[in-house]
Amino acid sequence: MSAASALRTPFTELFGIEHPVVQGGMMWAGRAELAAAVSAAGGLGVVTALTQPTPADLVTEITRTRALTDRPFGVNLTILPSINPPPYDAYRHAIVDTGVTIVETAGASPEPHLDFFRDHGVRVIHKCTSVRHALKAEKAGVAAVSIDGFECAGHPGEDDIPGLVLVPAAADALSIPFIASGGFADGRGLAAALVLGAHGVNMGTRFLCSQESPVADEVKRRIVAATELDTNLIFRPLRNTARVAKNSVSDEVVRVLADGGSFADVRDLVAGSRGRLVFENGDLDAGIWGVGLAQGLIRDVPPAGEIVTRVVQEAHAVLATALRGFAA
Ligand SMILES: Cc1cc2nc3c(=O)[nH]c(=O)nc-3n(C[C@H](O)[C@H](O)[C@H](O)COP(=O)(O)O)c2cc1C
Repeated sequence: MSAASALRTPFTELFGIEHPVVQGGMMWAGRAELAAAVSAAGGLGVVTALTQPTPADLVTEITRTRALTDRPFGVNLTILPSINPPPYDAYRHAIVDTGVTIVETAGASPEPHLDFFRDHGVRVIHKCTSVRHALKAEKAGVAAVSIDGFECAGHPGEDDIPGLVLVPAAADALSIPFIASGGFADGRGLAAALVLGAHGVNMGTRFLCSQESPVADEVKRRIVAATELDTNLIFRPLRNTARVAKNSVSDEVVRVLADGGSFADVRDLVAGSRGRLVFENGDLDAGIWGVGLAQGLIRDVPPAGEIVTRVVQEAHAVLATALRGFAA
């Protein structure tokens, strides 16, 4: 597929990329090959810090990514409320020591990390799920925001506001560049996001189902076969909602918690080590794994770079020609 002509927005200008298409951080999937393929095609690939067991492993992964592309890429730092938090300080040092200048934060307020990143010339894209959190991040000094609608894989928050309202509401409120996330998989989505006032899109599920994504082929085949109906929202009663693939394990988690169970009753079912087995072995019922409603729009497993090119070309076409059919 030939390269798409650049689609410039305030977001692409800020981060020195060609197209406003970002591959969001993904636990177990956000590794060098995927991030580099997205960046090499002119988007912004993101390596997931906590997928690497130690900060030293993250240094190796960033070095591998840089060997694959000389274009900008970012690192995702997911800030989890946890009894035994990962050594965030050491991960932050791994990021800046390797010369990375773009970080995607998510999970909790980025504020405790911002002074450090600012002092080291890093621009932060904070991913959040509400306009109020986006405004808070803007006030705290992030460079850009990625706003995740209810459609998204992973944690959509508890407000349940889909992108069709969340994105223009964010556009009305924010002064810094922002991208729309959750439910985007093709050029129609990118065009819609731009029309709603965003400066680009962030995609997870679409890139999870690409050739460079390191997950088992069974997972990719399941995404292609699945529809927008095939996800579960787990942890709703615990107010820590996560959108995951519908399977026997997530069905069981929903049932146990709806029957009044506590986190302790589902702890083993939702263990990250079990979810990892899904991605490594392709056993789709080994555990829970994140996927979004966008799977209903995904029908193939192309190279990640082709996804970037295709999405941008299709957005150009929709914006320039397809809509003409509606003109009076
Ligand atoms: C398998 C998987 C793992 C993810 N892990 C993370 C993560 O560790 N940190 C994070 O900030 N977002 C994570 N996400 C969310 C994505 O970065 C992105 O916000 C989301 O997928 C957007 O919705 P979409 O899937 O509809 O494109 C994950 C998504 C998927 C599909």
